[in-house]
Amino acid sequence: MIKEKYIALENTDTIRPDSIDDYIEYGGYSSLEKLFSMPPSEVIDKMQNSGLRGRGGAGFPTGMKKKFTYESCETCEQRYVICNADEGEPGTFKDRPIMERNPHKLIEGMIIAAWEIGATKGFIYIRAEYYTATKLLEKALADAREKGFLGKNILGSALSFDIEISLGAGSYLCGEELTLLESLEGKRGYPRIKPPFPAEKGLFGKPTLVNNVETLTHLPAIINNGDEWYKSLGTEKSSGTKIFTISGDVNEPGYFELEMGVTLRELIELTGGMKDNIPFKTALLGGAAGTFVDSSMLDEPMDFENLQEKGATLGSGAVMIFNEQQDLHAIMGSILEFFKHESCGKCVPCRVGTSMLVDWHRQINKKPLQQEDLVDRMLAQSRFMEKTSLCFLGKSPVMPLVSAAKYFKNEL
Ligand SMILES: Cc1cc2nc3c(=O)[nH]c(=O)nc-3n(C[C@H](O)[C@H](O)[C@H](O)COP(=O)(O)O)c2cc1C
Ligand code: SF4
Repeated sequence: MIKEKYIALENTDTIRPDSIDDYIEYGGYSSLEKLFSMPPSEVIDKMQNSGLRGRGGAGFPTGMKKKFTYESCETCEQRYVICNADEGEPGTFKDRPIMERNPHKLIEGMIIAAWEIGATKGFIYIRAEYYTATKLLEKALADAREKGFLGKNILGSALSFDIEISLGAGSYLCGEELTLLESLEGKRGYPRIKPPFPAEKGLFGKPTLVNNVETLTHLPAIINNGDEWYKSLGTEKSSGTKIFTISGDVNEPGYFELEMGVTLRELIELTGGMKDNIPFKTALLGGAAGTFVDSSMLDEPMDFENLQEKGATLGSGAVMIFNEQQDLHAIMGSILEFFKHESCGKCVPCRVGTSMLVDWHRQINKKPLQQEDLVDRMLAQSRFMEKTSLCFLGKSPVMPLVSAAKYFKNEL
């Protein structure tokens, strides 16, 4: 059976999450000395060469994002590092165990990012439901400050940097980076129009790096072990590890950190196989804004490129498994309800479109319209929304709809 490989979850079986001494004893914060011996541009080059890509869903190359942020405004004295800990994508539960089991790893990653882009201030934007994670992070921040890993001239370096926690109210849309910035500034969670991107004009108009929790926890390992080491993990174009969160009709749902390129079949094996031995029917990859696949995809390596080539998505690493007895009509209904509920209503295609999708879907199998006509209408509507919606939420229903129709059109 395939073995887990820990980077984000390194030493989580050994260290106590509320003990900075445990973390330090197992090599924690050791990357900082090496970090401060390198100029930021050299660290950014290393990140670019490592091939690390964002783990929050979009898979954007992390080194490139930092380069943009670093170079965007030469005269700006204030820059921000923001950790996106909103974790709102359905079926995704990977950032929470990182923060609850390894909070110092996240803080160390944020210090590295701050050095790279020249930030003096960081924020962890975390949903208020994550109470335990928030409490552990608060303690970890206080302990890190006391030991001199945060604050003025960290370890005698030129970096002065501190981190604050900001609580979100659980809106899915506030996980989108520009909406997150609005919320962090104390405004209503409406998305901003991009460009400008956060790298150029982010929090309070300053250059801002927004990264997911999991992404940031990979930085210490890259500094300690090198970019070539990181590149040797995973697949040719998707390096490193990924935490997959597996839910649904399997024996032991859970989260597993594995090298990129693991297959769906291997993931199901890791969870003890299909529950009650009822055969596999489909998996939804990447959450509600993800794609359905059928059994023809069971042996495909799961990485950014290969899945994209096959018309699927890796997204945040959420994998929902459904067996043959599941009702796809009901599953699609709850996905469409979710988008309707989370739409902020700012633009018409999404505000009206998400409601229309729900209404049409409810009419399926009720006369006079035929199932096929309604599904075709929904597909056309979601494609229209993809082209015209202001932000990615309105562009998302097309993903589960089109992919599900590809395999199971007469069951929607
Ligand atoms: C509707 C929506 C919700 C999102 N929710 C999250 C989230 O909860 N956590 C997250 O890290 N990224 C989320 N994202 C992606 C962020 O906009 C952004 O790409 C990410 O935080 C960048 O970090 P990364 O480069 O490390 O992946 C969401 C995007 C959209 C469109
Ligand atoms: S696409 Fe939806 S969520 Fe995004 S701005 Fe428009 S109404 Fe709001």
